[in-house]
Amino acid sequence: MCGIVGYVGPRPSTDILLSGLARLEYRGYDSAGIAVIDDAGELGMRKRAGKLGILREDLARAPISDGTTGIGHTRWATHGGPTDGNAHPHLADEGKLAVIHNGIIENFAALKAELVSEGYDFVSETDTEVAAVLLGREYRANGADLEAAFRATVSRLDGAFTLLALHREHPGLVVGARRNSPLVIGLGEGENFLGSDVAAFVEHTRSALAIGQDQIVAITPGGVRVTDFDGDPVEVEPFEVTWDATAAEKGGWSSFMAKEVSEEPEAVANTIRGRISDGAVAIPELDGLDDLFRDIDRILVIACGTAAYAGQVGKYALEQWARVPVDVELAHEFRYRDPVLSPRTLVVSISQSGETMDTLMAVKYASERGARTLSICNTQGATIPRESDAIVYTHAGPEVAVASTKAFVAQITALYLLALHIGSVRGELTAVESAQHVRELEAIPAKIQRILDREQEHTTQLAHWMADTRSVLFLGRHVGFPIALEGALKLKEISYIHAEGFAAGELKHGPIALIEPGQPVFVIVPSPRESSQLHDKVVSNIQEIRARGARVIVVAEEGDAAVLPFADEVLRIPLAGPLFEPLLAVVPLHIFAMGLATAKGLDVDQPRNLAKSVTVE
Ligand code: F6R
Repeated sequence: MCGIVGYVGPRPSTDILLSGLARLEYRGYDSAGIAVIDDAGELGMRKRAGKLGILREDLARAPISDGTTGIGHTRWATHGGPTDGNAHPHLADEGKLAVIHNGIIENFAALKAELVSEGYDFVSETDTEVAAVLLGREYRANGADLEAAFRATVSRLDGAFTLLALHREHPGLVVGARRNSPLVIGLGEGENFLGSDVAAFVEHTRSALAIGQDQIVAITPGGVRVTDFDGDPVEVEPFEVTWDATAAEKGGWSSFMAKEVSEEPEAVANTIRGRISDGAVAIPELDGLDDLFRDIDRILVIACGTAAYAGQVGKYALEQWARVPVDVELAHEFRYRDPVLSPRTLVVSISQSGETMDTLMAVKYASERGARTLSICNTQGATIPRESDAIVYTHAGPEVAVASTKAFVAQITALYLLALHIGSVRGELTAVESAQHVRELEAIPAKIQRILDREQEHTTQLAHWMADTRSVLFLGRHVGFPIALEGALKLKEISYIHAEGFAAGELKHGPIALIEPGQPVFVIVPSPRESSQLHDKVVSNIQEIRARGARVIVVAEEGDAAVLPFADEVLRIPLAGPLFEPLLAVVPLHIFAMGLATAKGLDVDQPRNLAKSVTVE
């Protein structure tokens, strides 16, 4: 939520800020603004409600005086609606000081009352303006020392925040602070950057520093100073960004989502790469943890949204291959119910962004209560992996579209690698069994590619025919159940259509009442080659809904002829072992959601009311 960028150096900053904001717009896009100290030492500021394009047009029509020190913000509203006035930056100290903020300042009402009683005026409804006005007061109280004033200000704030500030009396200086909200430093030659994530500055430098919790940073063209909230210097971890700016660009695709769905094969392949040795899983990041994996008696997977559905798929593999009991829980529910945890509990968090506040808080809570934590994450330098005992990165590359697609298949892949690794360490899998599963996993990228090549046109066409549909149901069983949930979430999220996913077996316990003539229902059909007879049971479910008039679209294995008499449409996936089907069955559902949103003329990358990185609780 909210994207933040800061720049100091020799170059005019407006374009640098705007291009940084364009790369961060996925974080929030209901308003945007910049503040720049120009060469004459004046502070210029412009902010507008609406997407970044509106601010850009405004600045093109009436530019502000440019300068080499600046901050920029793209907003996802929390306190106060998305208006020009509530957009960031917020000014204080008679317009000489500008502040941008990501997060929520929980004690803003008490602070505001204190400042109002001292005669300070407010022009917005935001909690951010309270931080700005407080900083202005502290600036004067601390003899115009911006860093000292910043320390005094952040020590008064409760909640989660990344704050950046500049003051016209200090050209060439941007200060920042973070608590439970992301901020990274980009190191350039004679210039430095700050950003909510590396996308803010990756086109200028791939050299970065990760700032820890409760730390303050001051950047100047020649240097970077990081301290704790008491002003004591701290060491920060350097890292190299592993992807370049082109990876976060559309590159000729109609949308980021279209590009990212097309990258699903690569996301799986890159997550496997470097983690297989002589046909067995070898995850270098997990070296030295064998005793932990032998010792655990339970795995608790915590995540939100799509990442939680990946966790639900992973549960089947972890239980089957590693023979450890697994529970999957929504991160925001987890810590409010006094969960039972012990040092033998391994808490596996899954997060594309690595910044989801609910997941972060759940990880911290689990750690404080003695559980061991492992993060599956797609974003280097993010907070959740840094708060965890172990990390397995998914290598899906930057995911920009708000709806998660390639990260989902990468998360399942990472969970499968983890399950195979733990299963081998615990002696639950023989080398031969493990090698067979590894071969299946390695074959997945090509199979996803085959779906993209063969089914994309048909699925998109189907979505266009269904553009007026008001409700779609999704049914699945076993690993197909979380895929049904994912198909439904993706559809509601980007096409604003009512959609629900059910376990097919649950149908007769209530949801079948929803079926009326013409109701579209997607059914994910297990392979007929499976011994469990789930295929036949799902085909019976199809007949039950068909008899009540449902319009049935099945996702079924190539060659499965048993579904043909009962299906209005068939979307084919290549043959795969039962646990590997979800990595294939989800692909047509992603294509369908995207096709339907496109047919309705919606912005698939930036759906309404959402933001990619949910850094508020
Ligand atoms: C849905 C979607 C969300 C995220 C969820 C968790 O398409 O993208 O449901 O999966 O907000 O986000 P991360 O993985 O960043 O923790």
